Amino acid sequence: MLEKLLVRTARHIAAYRTAVDDAPVFPTLDFDAVRAVIGGPLPDGPQAAELVVDQLVAGVEPVMVSTTGPRYFGFVIGGALPASTAAELLAVGWDQPAYNHLSSPGSAVVEEVAGAWLLELLGLPADASFGFVTGAQGANTVCLAAARHHVLANAGWDVERDGLTGAPVVRILASEERHATVDRSLRLLGFGSGSLDLVRADDNGAIDITALRHALAETPEGPAIVCLQAGNVNTGACDDLGAAVESAHEHGGMGSRRWGLRAVGGCESDQEAPCAGYRDCRLVGY
Ligand SMILES: Cc1ncc(COP(=O)(O)O)c(C=O)c1O
Repeated sequence: MLEKLLVRTARHIAAYRTAVDDAPVFPTLDFDAVRAVIGGPLPDGPQAAELVVDQLVAGVEPVMVSTTGPRYFGFVIGGALPASTAAELLAVGWDQPAYNHLSSPGSAVVEEVAGAWLLELLGLPADASFGFVTGAQGANTVCLAAARHHVLANAGWDVERDGLTGAPVVRILASEERHATVDRSLRLLGFGSGSLDLVRADDNGAIDITALRHALAETPEGPAIVCLQAGNVNTGACDDLGAAVESAHEHGGMGSRRWGLRAVGGCESDQEAPCAGYRDCRLVGY
């Protein structure tokens, strides 16, 4: 019975993906029509699985955005490749709680291999730690938490034990074209979005390195974090990471400040990771 259901579902997916190249990029929206097919009163009891799948396809598929198609250029969203689509199906089928070696040894090794390959692909040090998180929000929060720990530990403050009350003030520099999730992460981590020192961006949305240098030169002694961006969500622009890190290092020589991509911020990448179980995820390197 499961096999029949899965084959039927896979056929629905294959039919959708075959047609998506010629489908409109954005659907004609009729939310009431969707609600009429999949909504209504809570059913009295279980329904046949085939019926549920068919209802979803009939009701929801007409309002899909063709993000996997060749004419979708919104944000910096990448389309799912055939291999990652199939691996995702396997991951769902295997249904592993993939959080450590005990609950799922196989998933742990997949994560290990995918992380090591991504570090190599991105030119990051092989001994950098990494993690796969739920999305941009999770990635920026983890990176900023790691940076918060690092700069405050250097200033002699144990933020995990003592929190932020009474902690040295941390200066946070980011481009005026930073991703919206940076501000939200700052609020979540107790810095507050008002802690941001904004640096000018160029016409393409990358951080202006000269403006960053000036801002760094004006940075008072004390802990500071620089947020950099590899892939502006609107234009795709990449900050000049090399130049930014170099100028941060130049200023790191002064007083107690410490700088560097690994030491200061980590990085957040908006690409889908090509491994089973983590299709909608972001990579965090630190
Ligand atoms: C306004 C806004 N909030 C949140 C996110 C991030 O969502 P997620 O954490 O699911 O990647 C995005 C996506 O880029 C966004 O544009």
